Amino acid sequence: MAFKALVLEQEAGKVTAAVRSLEPENLPEGDVLVSVMYSSLNYKDALAVTGRGKIIRGAYPFVPGIDLAGEVVASESELWRVGDLVIGTGWGLGENTWGGFSRMARVRGEWLVPLPEGLTPKEAMVAGTAGFTAMLSAMALEHEDATPGRGEVVVTGATGGVGSFAVTILARRGFSVAASTGKTHARAYLEALGARRLLPREDLGQGPRRPLDTARWAAAVDTVGGATLAALLSRTGRHGSVAACGLAGGHELHTTVFPFILRGVNLLGIDSNTCPMPRRLEAWARIAAEVPKEAFARMTHRVIPLAEVPAASAALLDGQALGRIVVDVRA
Ligand SMILES: NC(=O)c1ccc[n+]([C@@H]2O[C@H](COP(=O)([O-])OP(=O)(O)OC[C@H]3O[C@@H](n4cnc5c(N)ncnc54)[C@H](OP(=O)(O)O)[C@@H]3O)[C@@H](O)[C@H]2O)c1
Repeated sequence: MAFKALVLEQEAGKVTAAVRSLEPENLPEGDVLVSVMYSSLNYKDALAVTGRGKIIRGAYPFVPGIDLAGEVVASESELWRVGDLVIGTGWGLGENTWGGFSRMARVRGEWLVPLPEGLTPKEAMVAGTAGFTAMLSAMALEHEDATPGRGEVVVTGATGGVGSFAVTILARRGFSVAASTGKTHARAYLEALGARRLLPREDLGQGPRRPLDTARWAAAVDTVGGATLAALLSRTGRHGSVAACGLAGGHELHTTVFPFILRGVNLLGIDSNTCPMPRRLEAWARIAAEVPKEAFARMTHRVIPLAEVPAASAALLDGQALGRIVVDVRA
């Protein structure tokens, strides 16, 4: 039966996006067919849809969307049965293989995780790759013994998808959270998520003032990269940790070894895409257990149909979103 999907085409290097009608036989190979309920718009999706970043590694025409939540409607995988509710993120979904901006998706069973108890498919996509990455970052900090008693933790790009979830999760765990943001008008939003104070984006965005600056933080979740990450490293305290998960401000990193060899600072890399399954399952279970219901609602900036994804992508890259954009693929 025909279904709707957002299809990207590329001509003379220019990417265009339009909602089209597809047939199941158009879908790529895979052993599980998912009736998608919700997807979400991530930074990576916005780059793919607008063509502003080289995200798509499969051939065009291509269906993007790095996240999906839905119900299994056919399965040749021993892992899944018809009727199972599942989440798909990472493993190249929406990058190498067709993704979640589609009413139907065919994927490999081993890429999926069960929808954890206590989470609705919509809430799973309020979180999506962004919430999952924030949880992986918080888990990585915890693994390096970051505890509320050791001092303040800073989250950069705090009003973004990853940032909003990181503020929420860390505040719920009792950390005093400083939210670094370019949106001074977002004070009420960030404080409602649990931020104790706001830092203007430029404070870190100008880069390190000296290779080793006064220690200010015990830990950090950085979604911005570039000069911001270098500044964070220079101001993180003894044996503190910085979870680096993003590049919203730049992909380069110019630093010195001083924070590492004189303060024992840990730079922790976070890659949600290839996260191993046991950690993946733990992260989703902890999202369900730790993120309050009202926080999902608060972090939902908008719920949009497939047709609005292109315009919302441009707005996201212009930094206009506050929290997360959920895509209702059935609308
Ligand atoms: N490692 C992984 O597995 C993984 C997974 C998901 C996402 N990511 C990365 O994490 C980053 C955030 O993703 P997201 O989905 O949360 O994106 P998002 O919702 O667009 O949030 C990005 C936030 O970064 C800040 N920002 C935007 N442009 C900036 C600039 N030029 N300089 C400094 N700050 C800027 C803004 O927050 P404020 O206005 O509050 O400052 C913005 O809301 C992206 O780079 C994404 O690729 C990585």
